[in-house]
Amino acid sequence: MKKIRLKSPAKVNLYLKVLSKRPDGFHELETVFERIGLFDEISLINNESGQIRIQCNHPDVPCDERNLAHKAARLLQQTTKVSNGVTIRIKKNIPVAAGLAGGSSNAATVLMGLNRLWKLGLSRRRLANLAGTIGSDITFFLYNTPFALGQGRGERIKPLRVDKKLWHVLVVPHVKLLTRDVFGAFKLGLTNQKGSVNILIRHLKKSDLNVLSCLLTNDLEPVAMRLCPRLKKIKRRFQMFGADRVLLSGSGPSIYALIDSKKEAQKLARKLTGNNNRVYIARTI
Ligand code: C5P
Repeated sequence: MKKIRLKSPAKVNLYLKVLSKRPDGFHELETVFERIGLFDEISLINNESGQIRIQCNHPDVPCDERNLAHKAARLLQQTTKVSNGVTIRIKKNIPVAAGLAGGSSNAATVLMGLNRLWKLGLSRRRLANLAGTIGSDITFFLYNTPFALGQGRGERIKPLRVDKKLWHVLVVPHVKLLTRDVFGAFKLGLTNQKGSVNILIRHLKKSDLNVLSCLLTNDLEPVAMRLCPRLKKIKRRFQMFGADRVLLSGSGPSIYALIDSKKEAQKLARKLTGNNNRVYIARTI
């Protein structure tokens, strides 16, 4: 096998609670991930030279060692001593640095893809251990699950058995908001104390969207809105058009709403389009 093509999906967080700051500088989290149908396309082309090359159609994506996909390939080479290299072609559709974990998903796709392309035979557990050393959001994508509970830095994953598929409208403004800065500005003790993650999971499993929407929570949202007041305006715009279940995804700047149907999502997306924001409709996948 010389080449593999794969889809690399995005995520949103339905719940994100910051529990504590750890001695290593990271934060201990409890989060619920949802995989959504917004995809980058990745091609992996094997080479015998041992070189790792990245090609990407998006100007803001680094094509060197800073790219998480590059780190993933390098780590696999180092740990398995494989002599092959790879050209990683990334066609970006997921907005970059948006709180949708596009880069992390690309890294997970590369780990799984190279495991096949290079015939490494590594278990998911082994891949998950490697993923955790590169970033916090990568492991979720190694599990073939639409929903999962994330703990630790977000890298300890428990898949959730949920049949329901949710519709969302996402608004992604053109602003720079670094994950590091949002966590850096976060103060423990200022978190809102909405229902616990287990209550949310119970209602998610029961497909009880009305209760679920009251339990959507993200401790990073107030901080992100303080650092970037435009996010508050976007949330208000959602609410002005009748969407009341609206939340920041991850550390932002993406803001999304939970919507009852595709038709409602299309209606809302039309109203939100403009103001130089990117607007997407996406469903659980
Ligand atoms: O792991 P990832 O590369 O996504 O993290 C980016 C930055 O976000 C980290 O360097 C850290 O500052 C912050 N972070 C954190 N606690 C987490 C995840 C990320 O403080 N659980």
